[in-house]
Amino acid sequence: MTPPTLVIFGATGSLATGKLIPALFRLHRKGRLPAGTRILGVARAELDEDRFLDLLEASLSAGGAPVERAAWREFARTIRYAHGDVTSGPGLAAVAAALAEAGGQGGRLYYLALAPWLYTKTIEGLLQAGLAGRGPAGGGGWRRVVIEKPFGSDRASARALNQKLLTAFDESQVFRIDHYLGKETVQNILVFRFANIAFEPLWNRNLIDHVQITVAESKRVDDRGPYYDGAGVLRDMFQNHLMQLLCLVAMEAPSRFEADALRSEKVKLLDSVRRVDAAGASRDMVVGQYDGYRLERGVRRDSRTPTYAAVRLYVDSWRWQGVPFYLRSGKGLARRVTEIVVQCSAPPHNMFDLPEGQALEGNRISLGIQPDEGVHIRFETKVPDRGMEVRPSSLVFHFADQATAAPPDAYERLLLDALAGDASLFMREDEIEQAWSIIDPLTRAQEDPSAPTPPIYPIGSWGPAPADPFITRDGRAWTLDTVSESAGPARAVSEEQPDHEVGRR
Ligand code: BG6
Repeated sequence: MTPPTLVIFGATGSLATGKLIPALFRLHRKGRLPAGTRILGVARAELDEDRFLDLLEASLSAGGAPVERAAWREFARTIRYAHGDVTSGPGLAAVAAALAEAGGQGGRLYYLALAPWLYTKTIEGLLQAGLAGRGPAGGGGWRRVVIEKPFGSDRASARALNQKLLTAFDESQVFRIDHYLGKETVQNILVFRFANIAFEPLWNRNLIDHVQITVAESKRVDDRGPYYDGAGVLRDMFQNHLMQLLCLVAMEAPSRFEADALRSEKVKLLDSVRRVDAAGASRDMVVGQYDGYRLERGVRRDSRTPTYAAVRLYVDSWRWQGVPFYLRSGKGLARRVTEIVVQCSAPPHNMFDLPEGQALEGNRISLGIQPDEGVHIRFETKVPDRGMEVRPSSLVFHFADQATAAPPDAYERLLLDALAGDASLFMREDEIEQAWSIIDPLTRAQEDPSAPTPPIYPIGSWGPAPADPFITRDGRAWTLDTVSESAGPARAVSEEQPDHEVGRR
């Protein structure tokens, strides 16, 4: 079969040089790319091929990992460069010529590593240049397109972009990326839930009190001020990454690990999420902005863009009726940590003579997505030689203890899947639109001129002052088991009680 060509539009940008090329280089070194895969970088800059390769090599080295010269030279032989204006048919002439020269018959994966406002024009350009073409995503001369987030800025714009895409490609040819789905630990949520029988009987409203999803970042907006200020945390993180985590933790079991079976279950879950109306937003959401955000480059000096949000959602289904899902995400927070905490209810009756003020805790399952990749299961145990005193202990599993090599970057898996035509870890048209329809009322409420300005929180804290009362008023507390909520160095919660932990590394 003629080898495929991966065409990267925006090949000199930070996504291409910082993520895609390093991921492709690692795949090349592991021998995982389909034999003969060619890479064609496309950008506006009039670079010759050597300069382009120098640029790629420099950014690989800047990534920190040592670049072995011989391996790089071998990989570099698979890379070509064409300069072109992606937004017009004539501007893509050089690309069409380079593709023809590369042996035009093979499959083509167009990767739009571009600013989102260029998506529509690029699709039109591909159509005009005769490079698109609706047809089955499989077969010899297949055409596929990968689109990065943000996919629209609300449901209406996402729908318009979907419609535009579907003038040039079939749904089966479109691969909408959410890089969280490429993370091993995110895929492990599916394995944990659907390759084990022990947890399913408790995974519902009968035994689960609530679920928390935290995606906290210590970094600030860095050089992405202009984009971020128009987006804010709800569009940047909730519509995609947090909604995907919510889907995986709450959806029903798909019949098989296959794109449509999986995505149909996710769409069903999103459809059952109760929409927050304008009046409910002040009850079900708190937002905040980190101190100094308005002084960041590219940010409006009077910006009301939230860099933190916590949202309470309910899923109207037999499984989840009445169980709150607390989602929070922010930048400039104390730590980088992504974790899902499934908090079980406390036992209905306590037969032990506990010290004054102590109560039995509900069991807790914490899925550590990053940086502590693993699972913590918390349960009560007897304190040795202390009558019938009890205290919580944890069983802890770390991927790092098993791995022989560093876990692959999310883009490695996603690039391979897109080249193989497997869309299981990519989002479908209706999934994107459903996710926006959950987020739109929240952004509308937050952006309403009458809404209060987001409270400021100190960098390195856990968010604005209302973040804690938001959950404690429900009789619950923000919980992290894989790190402590203090701003200090990473500590597993159980390290606070080192003498009663089971099976920690
Ligand atoms: C991106 C957001 O999608 O995800 C960024 O646009 C965010 O703002 C990033 O920093 C987080 O990804 P990760 O993999 O570092 O958790």
